[in-house]
Amino acid sequence: MLISHDLAVVGQLADRIAVMQSGSIVETGPSAEVLGSPAHEYTKRLLRAVPTDRPRGTTLSEQPVSISARQHRLIESRQRDDRDVAGRGPATEPLLVGTDLRKVYRNPDRSERVAVADVSFSLNRGSTLGIVGESGSGKSTVARMVLGLTPPDAGAVRFRGGDWSALSEQQRRPDRRRMASVYQDPLGSFDPQWTVEQVLADALIDGGALSRSDRQDEVVELLEAVGLGSAHLRRRPLSLSGGQRQRIAIARALASGPELIVCDEPVSALDVSIQAQVLDLLDELQREFTLSYLFISHDLGVIQHVSDEILVLRQGRVVEAGRAQEVFTDPTHPYTQSLLAAAPRLATGSTRHTPTVEAGARP
Ligand SMILES: Nc1ncnc2c1ncn2[C@@H]1O[C@H](COP(=O)(O)OP(=O)(O)O)[C@@H](O)[C@H]1O
Ligand SMILES: [Mg+2]
Repeated sequence: MLISHDLAVVGQLADRIAVMQSGSIVETGPSAEVLGSPAHEYTKRLLRAVPTDRPRGTTLSEQPVSISARQHRLIESRQRDDRDVAGRGPATEPLLVGTDLRKVYRNPDRSERVAVADVSFSLNRGSTLGIVGESGSGKSTVARMVLGLTPPDAGAVRFRGGDWSALSEQQRRPDRRRMASVYQDPLGSFDPQWTVEQVLADALIDGGALSRSDRQDEVVELLEAVGLGSAHLRRRPLSLSGGQRQRIAIARALASGPELIVCDEPVSALDVSIQAQVLDLLDELQREFTLSYLFISHDLGVIQHVSDEILVLRQGRVVEAGRAQEVFTDPTHPYTQSLLAAAPRLATGSTRHTPTVEAGARP
């Protein structure tokens, strides 16, 4: 008996599938039938939520968030404030550029472990760079170098047309709020004593200058922009579901009016249908506010759905880079080919043994 929220995994291994919703089995039958011609609306919804092979911009969830004119004005005004003050902003250079980044850690026996080597990339405004690779391939180390949390041993990160990794934290401060982050489990970065309102009010850059009621208005606007509302103001992060917490993390990221959001495995802890909502939300926010994402995931289906450009990392090195569509239809490196072959995919309408999951099939 195999229990999972991942339909592709279930389809690959099971002879029969039972679909549960709210404590009851709503549909049961042979795998090929359930996945190929689902009878129940809930099963159909689960199938639509799988991001693999769904082109960028396809809606995955049932009720995508819509952003009001007021929310739009609030976030956009934060983005604009000083965009051009430093003579940068709508620059000729891509928003984010990494050049020959390298990070080496020392093992306890003093031998060296190369976490990241010769990684280069660029990210244009309003687009998404997906970084995919197995656990330990160096994805989070790249993210930390971009965020300025880990200094590279060699190479450089440039942001908004200027030096970034070469600066001190104090020198980075004016542009700090232009770069936000969302992690796999935001709980670790929320103070458990704080309410949602406190978490978000704290993230408003000029929150202290606002009156109490204006501040609360802005917090509610942020909550509404991520599909939540004032009912959540007094909640504490621990009492929220994983999907709600991730929305709060996204709202917090938006609070400072960022241009870049570094998303490190943002949906990896979520069920498929909740994952679909969060991916749709990120997509909607990107279009609405011309956000750029550095999007990290070990899940090829997710990366395929969200990315314009892709880097495939293996043991800290880039083994493949290019337009997402090209990498997925015509991977050149054997490692990328094997990753694609190993990824469980949904191939509806066939039986398990002929095979339900077409290992090795190209999307
Ligand atoms: N602070 C650290 N100290 C020592 N080794 C580290 C540290 N952070 C990461 N590493 C090592 O660097 C490599 C890449 O890690 P990471 O960037 O977290 O990979 P990923 O996010 O792709 O799983 C791994 O071998 C990991 O053990
Ligand atoms: Mg990681």
